[in-house]
Amino acid sequence: MTTHIPFDFMEQFMIDVFKGIGVPEDDAKTCADVLVTSDKRGIDSHGIGRLKPIYYDRIVHQKIQRPTTEFEIVRDHLATAVVDGHHGMGMVVAKRCMQMAIDKAKKYGMGMVVARNSTHYGIAGYYPLMACQQDMIGLSGTNARPSIAPTFGVENMLGTNPLCFGLPSDEPYDFVNDYATSVIQRGKIEQYAREGKDCPEGVVIGRDGKSLTDSKQILAELVSGNAALAPIGGIAEETGGHKGYGFATVTEILSASLQQGAFLKQLIGFDEAGNRAPYKLGHFFMAIDIAAFCDPADFRKTTGDILRALRASEKAPGAERIYTCGEKEYLAGIERKDTGVPVNEALQKDMVAMRDELGLDYRFVFE
Ligand SMILES: NC(=O)c1ccc[n+]([C@@H]2O[C@H](COP(=O)([O-])OP(=O)(O)OC[C@H]3O[C@@H](n4cnc5c(N)ncnc54)[C@H](O)[C@@H]3O)[C@@H](O)[C@H]2O)c1
Repeated sequence: MTTHIPFDFMEQFMIDVFKGIGVPEDDAKTCADVLVTSDKRGIDSHGIGRLKPIYYDRIVHQKIQRPTTEFEIVRDHLATAVVDGHHGMGMVVAKRCMQMAIDKAKKYGMGMVVARNSTHYGIAGYYPLMACQQDMIGLSGTNARPSIAPTFGVENMLGTNPLCFGLPSDEPYDFVNDYATSVIQRGKIEQYAREGKDCPEGVVIGRDGKSLTDSKQILAELVSGNAALAPIGGIAEETGGHKGYGFATVTEILSASLQQGAFLKQLIGFDEAGNRAPYKLGHFFMAIDIAAFCDPADFRKTTGDILRALRASEKAPGAERIYTCGEKEYLAGIERKDTGVPVNEALQKDMVAMRDELGLDYRFVFE
């Protein structure tokens, strides 16, 4: 049965797990903050559900990620920088890169920082939101394990490559289009698998060109390369699949070409001998200081006017409301404030396993 765990409790548990596997305290707080922010925003695919498979197991069992993060600035030129994360904690690398981009934007109007040899950085939206809080436009993207097939292809070539903009508005929530460039992303398939649900038709393609729906099978087939995700717009040109394919490719290029690191199939997570190996991910972060263009309050007002006009436009028959990006996450935050994080049985097992392996002194409500 699904139970709810208060955010403070969950965040402290995450911090203790990260510390327990060797992540220094301040870094553990950063990593836990990125994960719990995802849970607070209702993005269940990237919160506590990711702690064991994506971070704990990769550090403890697969040994392909380092708990300590060596943040090496390999190039620093006025408004730009290149960072090497040396397979440390992706969230730590990412937060520091975004902060660097913001600091550079304060000085030069714009800042851009790219990272190589990083690891999974969680929700892309976390980083542009840091810029919004400073009256700046934020942009971030990352490459990821190959999953998306190009239009007219069946081979998993591109990562689910989120490409996220954060645009400040005068509303209680900023505009953040925080999503993968595939129709559906791995985290959501993992979530479906945990919940025993199938994926919808037409979003995953097999080598024979036919749609796959069994979530567990898809996760295995994605690793073996026998399944691929459709880019935004789907597999067909008629539905604009080539447009999502284009944006996934833009994200791959910006994540890899400036930092001269790994890309596409080089991010498979296995070496030539078939052993697990670091993912060598690349990310990019941009901050644009609105004050260099106009009064930030005016920018916020115009952006808010645009978003309000969109939401006030005529609705489709049967539709209750029109949303703008970032709104559902804001509403989820309000709804979950007093209830906390939903934790299903599969996640409960993960939490117990990590606690027991680390010998942490926790007793959970679901026990
Ligand atoms: N680090 C990685 O490698 C990686 C890879 C892929 C995805 N992700 C993350 O996974 C998370 C979920 O991605 P996803 O692709 O499943 O996102 P999604 O399909 O759930 O879309 C979420 C986004 O769409 C907006 N949205 C939802 N419904 C809307 C509506 N009706 N009208 C207007 N806007 C609407 C939301 O506000 C949000 O910005 C994101 O946080 C993303 O950054 C990370």
